[in-house]
Amino acid sequence: MSRRVIGIVMNGVTGRMGYRQHLVRSILAIRDQGGLPLGDGDTLWPEPILVGRSADKLKDLAERHGLTHWTTSLDEALAHPLAEIYFDAQVTPAREAALRTAIAAGKHVYTEKPTAESLEAALALARLARDAGVCNGAVQDKLFLPGLLKLKRLVDSGFFGRILSVRGEFGYWVFEGDWQQAQRPSWNYRAEDGGGMVLDMFPHWRYVLDGVIAPVRSVYAHTATHIPERTDEHGRVYRATADDAAYGVFELEGGITAQINSSWAVRVDRDELVEFQVDGTEGSAVAGLRECRFQHRAATPKPVWNPDLPATEPFRAQWQRVPDNEEFDNGFKAQWELFLRHVATGSPYHWDLLEGAKGVQLAELGLRSAREGRRLDVPELSL
Ligand SMILES: NC(=O)c1ccc[n+]([C@@H]2O[C@H](COP(=O)([O-])OP(=O)(O)OC[C@H]3O[C@@H](n4cnc5c(N)ncnc54)[C@H](O)[C@@H]3O)[C@@H](O)[C@H]2O)c1
Repeated sequence: MSRRVIGIVMNGVTGRMGYRQHLVRSILAIRDQGGLPLGDGDTLWPEPILVGRSADKLKDLAERHGLTHWTTSLDEALAHPLAEIYFDAQVTPAREAALRTAIAAGKHVYTEKPTAESLEAALALARLARDAGVCNGAVQDKLFLPGLLKLKRLVDSGFFGRILSVRGEFGYWVFEGDWQQAQRPSWNYRAEDGGGMVLDMFPHWRYVLDGVIAPVRSVYAHTATHIPERTDEHGRVYRATADDAAYGVFELEGGITAQINSSWAVRVDRDELVEFQVDGTEGSAVAGLRECRFQHRAATPKPVWNPDLPATEPFRAQWQRVPDNEEFDNGFKAQWELFLRHVATGSPYHWDLLEGAKGVQLAELGLRSAREGRRLDVPELSL
């Protein structure tokens, strides 16, 4: 039994996702549990090497968590003798150059989505990683959420019969920043800084639809900037140049229609911040981040349209809950563990930069569809 240390250069850990989900809830959580068992008696011990722009923030963060390695130089971080993996959770426009540098330095790479700002750049990164022979992965966290794992369980069991349609509802009110501080960074609302709903969320919808329901074959999107002016972190008013809502219709293989509304200008009247309803000939289900409810064909009520009478059925009470039947870990951590095992043992890993590029492809086509006002095919991608 031995402990193998693996250095992970972590860029963007002063940000929301980098800090909370990747550093604290994934890498430090793996250390808290004693490392990652590799199945052969050995344990993998991830050693973060923090890199970023602000020495003060990095120093403070490292001290807070008892970490010893940090630097403001990417080259220095990549040259660290322990460094084997580069991880990127920076703002999107900063990602491509850093990933290229890491791949050129021979590091395995793991990155937040979108993997790049254009399909061309995303594919180029995937090719570079392949040619360099490095392991590579893109974050697809939603696939590892309890609600979607339960939905996948239903799909795999054949519960739905023939799947007809999917309707997804994502969003919540993001404050404008004037009388209450915004709960998301302001760059998300500026196209020139990599912001926008389509670029942010269509990569997620791509892997959720592809991975849980069926491959996406076409897209039609209508976008909007509902709130044209917002106030940033410094109290300055700025023009929102990016879409803050996207209404998408996707055709999936097998003639399935998926429709997903995504908005930061909607108030929540749902059980969870994202919900997907899947209707099939044999049954239906509604999955959120954590829960999944279902209704079988045999338990389906027969409503009769009559606006003169109050609803006669308690519709929302007529669904059953899919039981957990297993322990669910944090989705980001679960995917990190798969990637780390892949690097350490060569175990199979599906969610690579080519899969990440498919997300960028859907975002790019979604934005084009919105501009041109028409439905666009989503061609197969290959390297
Ligand atoms: N998987 C998910 O569910 C999910 C959710 C939110 C965001 N994201 C992705 O994670 C990435 C980071 O998003 P976030 O919400 O954590 O952002 P954030 O603004 O909170 O953090 C951004 C990080 O990038 C760094 N950075 C590097 N260059 C910068 C620059 N020029 N300007 C500003 N910051 C710079 C910042 O210091 C910070 O550490 C984005 O690519 C976003 O698409 C993924």
